[in-house]
Amino acid sequence: MSYDLVVIGTGPGGYVAAIRAAQLGMKVAVVEKRATHGGTCLNVGCIPSKALLHASERYAEAADGFAGMGIKVKPELDLAAMLAFKDAGVKGNVDGVAFLLRKYKIDHFHGRGRIVGPGKVEVTFINGETQAVEAKAIAIATGSEVAALPGIAIDEKRIVSSTGALSLPSVPKRLVVIGAGYIGLELGSVWSRLGSEVTVVEMLDLVAPGLDSEVAKQLQRTLTKQGLAFKLGTKVVGVDTNGARLRLTLEPAAGGKSEELETDVVLVAVGRIPNTEGLGLAEVGVKTDNRGRIVVDGKFATNVPGIYALGDVIKGPMLAHKAEEEGVALAEILASQAGHVNYDVIPSVIYTAPEVASVGKSEEELKEAGIDYKVGKFPFTANGRAKVNRATEGFVKILVETGTDRVLGVHIIGADAGTMIAEAAVLMEFGGSAEDLARTCHAHPTLNEAIKEAALAVDKRAIHM
Ligand code: FAD
Ligand code: NAI
Repeated sequence: MSYDLVVIGTGPGGYVAAIRAAQLGMKVAVVEKRATHGGTCLNVGCIPSKALLHASERYAEAADGFAGMGIKVKPELDLAAMLAFKDAGVKGNVDGVAFLLRKYKIDHFHGRGRIVGPGKVEVTFINGETQAVEAKAIAIATGSEVAALPGIAIDEKRIVSSTGALSLPSVPKRLVVIGAGYIGLELGSVWSRLGSEVTVVEMLDLVAPGLDSEVAKQLQRTLTKQGLAFKLGTKVVGVDTNGARLRLTLEPAAGGKSEELETDVVLVAVGRIPNTEGLGLAEVGVKTDNRGRIVVDGKFATNVPGIYALGDVIKGPMLAHKAEEEGVALAEILASQAGHVNYDVIPSVIYTAPEVASVGKSEEELKEAGIDYKVGKFPFTANGRAKVNRATEGFVKILVETGTDRVLGVHIIGADAGTMIAEAAVLMEFGGSAEDLARTCHAHPTLNEAIKEAALAVDKRAIHM
């Protein structure tokens, strides 16, 4: 079989590249080793975690927030049904991708792909049989996998990765999360809402590294109020699994006296690593960097002609929408169009309650780059809709370049921040200014009005403050 493009891996990067290439008239095939399409994101990542975040948030709201609106209920948790709700959501999404691949007449090979030479992929099916697939171009979109901690073996029962934490059969009395990043804060929130005593152990002195530190501090305060405990500047150096409870040894990251902590379940969430094992990269000579990521140029080309890579397996934030943008861009480049990804405008969202959403630079990054900037801030306590909904936690912070007024970063902590950030991303994609935002009529009453007010606040003319 011979194709214009063969994509290995059908996560958000791979399946989107395949669809866009098919739209542009290429003959496309995909190779996927998992039983279903959609990759980490749809099967064990974005989608199932958001299903549990949604359901557990409603549960917590029913217990604590409904009575204040005059709704009397006594919520009772049916965890099996909640997990089934999540699984149904996953099925709906992965079936959707399978439908799209069929719609675009993309051939799919369910097996493990290995590159045996430029233009040549060997697929090994589950029964051990192999098939050769040839293509003018090969795109590697094999994503990432859980990063392990030395000496701490994940069994997906008591010591779990995010995958195990999406399917715990009962609510653990105590849960220790190692790593206060995206996964630790999101899945820590889920199990805390469902009744676990959650302790998050983080090596650094701040949660969610990379976030604007003012937002990160507010997020930590909010989550602490919700019942999560944090041990910052601390490392887990060992877990004793002998006995009914797990015994963790913790050490200050800066060195010092160790302490012990008992728990029922540990979630290891210390990052993800590129997934390149068994792909035949060394044999064909594809270069990787010191973090195991495939090295590509600005057009996603590796050093071997005809072999491209995108998504979590290359540099950049490990985010589904970043992988998707790269999928579209690569397909367009292969079709001799001007595919391009603007890495300065990739939003990121932590789906805690409230959500945290950012796009562009943080204050720390602007300071480090020596850029002169102004700040416009507006709290949700002064937003009418947030007030009436009793969702007043958080603020919008806009960072603009002094002199040009160009928006360089927008950071929101608040209800629905993940949806609201799109407005900022569109503005920044067009090189917009705070004045542009401030002069745009925003519907009332909406949470988005806080963005307009923050833009007005850049020049100290917010109306409702
Ligand atoms: P993947 O989605 O990892 O897909 C790679 C695919 O390649 C997999 O299906 C794999 O089976 C297949 N594969 C690998 N090797 C081979 C081979 N040799 N042959 C055939 N197939 C192969 N990102 C967000 O933007 N928003 C979120 O809310 C979010 N939530 C997340 C929650 C969790 C718990 C996790 C773990 C991740 C989350 N992410 C989120 C990150 C997101 O899942 C990834 O950034 C995204 O899936 C990367 O897409 P990808 O296409 O590069 O790779
Ligand atoms: P992460 O990189 O977000 O966070 C890992 C955290 O672990 C960091 O805070 C790091 O300092 C800490 N850490 C590292 N080693 C440690 C140690 N030994 N002891 C204590 N802490 C340690 O990684 P995470 O949460 O595993 O998620 C992986 C990736 O998946 C994310 O980087 C993100 O790209 C993606 N993701 C995105 C989501 C979203 O968009 N909402 C949700 C979930 C995951």
